[in-house]
Amino acid sequence: MTIPERRESLRSEFGLSETDIPALSGEAGLSEETADRMIENVIGRYALPMGIARNFIVNGKAYPVPMVIEEPSVVAAASNGARIVKAAGGFRADADDPLMIGQLQILGLKDLPAAEASLAEKKEELLRLAAESCPNLIKRGGGPKDLVLRPLPETQAGPMLILHLIMDVRDAMGANLIDTALEYIAPSVEKICGGTVRLRILSNLADRRLARASCAVPPAAMAFKEYAGDDVIGRVLEAAAFAEADPYRAVTHNKGIMNGIDAVVLAVGNDWRSVEAGAHAWAARDGRIRPLSHWKRDPETGNLIGNIELPLSLGTVGGATRVHPGAAAALRLMGVQNARELAGVIAAVGLAQNLAAMRALSTEGIQRGHMSLHAKQMAVAAGASGAAADRIAARMVRENRISASYAAELAAAEMKKE
Ligand code: MEV
Repeated sequence: MTIPERRESLRSEFGLSETDIPALSGEAGLSEETADRMIENVIGRYALPMGIARNFIVNGKAYPVPMVIEEPSVVAAASNGARIVKAAGGFRADADDPLMIGQLQILGLKDLPAAEASLAEKKEELLRLAAESCPNLIKRGGGPKDLVLRPLPETQAGPMLILHLIMDVRDAMGANLIDTALEYIAPSVEKICGGTVRLRILSNLADRRLARASCAVPPAAMAFKEYAGDDVIGRVLEAAAFAEADPYRAVTHNKGIMNGIDAVVLAVGNDWRSVEAGAHAWAARDGRIRPLSHWKRDPETGNLIGNIELPLSLGTVGGATRVHPGAAAALRLMGVQNARELAGVIAAVGLAQNLAAMRALSTEGIQRGHMSLHAKQMAVAAGASGAAADRIAARMVRENRISASYAAELAAAEMKKE
């Protein structure tokens, strides 16, 4: 399909409005004026490609998945992983209540247990106070839920007491809600325990806001070229075992998962650094980096079973989701009703990405597929454009000679022709 045909197919299949199409194409995307209100010292806007991963069925619903990424073959791999899982009915996914953690660092305490006891006693009062800072959130059914005290008796700066404020942030990412509530209760916390509150900030280790996805793929759906499905499952399990056993592999395994997750998080205007920081900390929670996904063979059916679980603090309201027209349109395109639904779909994207990577890596390797997609980018990097770039890419793939130097040679020849 041409680019306009792709947009048209999305419009007819998912009922995009007339104004969303130019927002997604970039034509009516982020304006300079809005950009200037988003961050500081703005000099322009920076574009990246947006592609749509297809074939995603999550909890029985079809989702077009917008992905913003500079790396070739990620969108294709996600669609491919989702196609394999679609043959088996799609992904199951769910997410926890949107509970975020805010931290208060309390210093200058002579007696940590006494300070802890005084704050524990006033827990309900502090929660009521925190609720005063977020009346709209309370109306939407969210708000402060719990206080947890975590003494750190030995740090480089001496003893300190950490207070965790747990808040249900509903469909927001939650950073502003949490930080506002923390600053609001800090003076009362000081009065109650006699210490000095210093840092007041959310934690990006959102381990009470986990999202999960799973899939069960029969061997027939895993068959690939000359490789039988059962053989491919065995190979994928060996790849997964490698990631379970070796931190060097686990990091790359997780990087592949984050290829998909970050691309969607970025497309829907969310904070991908927070998602990244949380995901890797979660993966290393037992002191060593582990894979975010786990794979096994169902002994009864022979199906390949995959699971992923990670913290996903995402918002469908607030932040860039409101001000960036492309992000807002991308969210509408996905048709998610709330942040939990979004988190479930994004977890499924991570799992699809991982499945596709392991299937390719454990059979023919990724370079053939990746490099043929990469060839187009190489042709452009070598200075070619339009039809010439396509001709150069096609020739490099045909001759199985995909390199920057050959792209430069072919581009020079094309220029001479012109
Ligand atoms: C490349 O961006 C991602 C992969 O390295 C992931 C993996 O090795 O699983 C292909």
